[in-house]
Amino acid sequence: MSDRNPYLPSPVKIIGLRQETDCEFTLTVAAERAITPGQFFQVSLPRIGEAPISVSNCGPDWIEFTIRAVGRLTNAVQGLRPGDNLFIRGPYGTGFPIDRFRQQRLVIVAGGSGVAPVRPLIDRVVRGELPVKSLDLIVGFKNRSSILFSDDLAAWKEKSRLVLTIDKPEEGWNGETGLVTEHIKKMQFTDFDDLQVVVVGPPVMMKFATAEFRLLKVPSERIWVSFERLMSCGLGKCGHCKIDYTYVCVDGPVLNYSHAAGLID
Ligand SMILES: Cc1cc2nc3c(=O)[nH]c(=O)nc-3n(C[C@H](O)[C@H](O)[C@H](O)COP(=O)(O)OP(=O)(O)OC[C@H]3O[C@@H](n4cnc5c(N)ncnc54)[C@H](O)[C@@H]3O)c2cc1C
Ligand code: FES
Repeated sequence: MSDRNPYLPSPVKIIGLRQETDCEFTLTVAAERAITPGQFFQVSLPRIGEAPISVSNCGPDWIEFTIRAVGRLTNAVQGLRPGDNLFIRGPYGTGFPIDRFRQQRLVIVAGGSGVAPVRPLIDRVVRGELPVKSLDLIVGFKNRSSILFSDDLAAWKEKSRLVLTIDKPEEGWNGETGLVTEHIKKMQFTDFDDLQVVVVGPPVMMKFATAEFRLLKVPSERIWVSFERLMSCGLGKCGHCKIDYTYVCVDGPVLNYSHAAGLID
């Protein structure tokens, strides 16, 4: 057993920076870690703070984090540049059950910043590392200027049935509009034996999107969600992330809906 202090973060060098939207940016750091899509790291800066951030993509020696500048840590991280150090500990939490998705019809519904944790999962399918029978993607953003990962969408469209939607019509937008739930309604599921559904996004979106799949009679066991919950230790010790008997940091953030249904507000 390692006697390394589990709260001690490691410095990692920033090797890439991409502005995604006005307040969201993607940092690439040099780090070698075995990561399952859906897992997160505790990201920190000394004397500023620490916050859980999902892995938005990874390779053998790099990890990407897509961060929305909303508070003390994330605003400070926004000021970093390639060559600077970021501090990380992890990966933590359950990822998506990749093996259960193999050779299944995979449906992923993601909204806003919820697209970040599913991006490594989508990439595995697109790169052929996770073979599936089909991939349906419904990706929703508030408006045109909040669309994340624009560069990836073309590659995703080639390998999936992609619906990219913004909430309301906008000048210059010729694509789909309406909430992701409206697009779920249009899906005609006749057989659930090989179907797996992933829903990730803001709490209200997850509530209504999962309800829509249940109305379509998709069994709970075939629906997976990911929670964002206030966290502190990330290690199942402090209880900050606890909902009823569930420690979201270790039992989640990815949970099967048969477990998560009672936890969604
Ligand atoms: C599993 C998991 C994965 C996540 N993945 C990501 C991710 O990939 N990318 C990402 O950007 N975020 C992610 N988050 C969310 C991120 O951890 C939080 O936004 C975190 O709080 C940011 O830390 P901060 O110090 O920058 O913000 P904080 O200073 O903690 O502020 C966060 C929010 O709280 C509000 N706030 C701050 N102080 C106060 C106060 N005194 N009173 C009232 N409101 C206040 C702020 O306005 C802001 O909206 C994830 C969270 C979880 C649990
Ligand atoms: S964050 Fe401390 S127990 Fe989950």
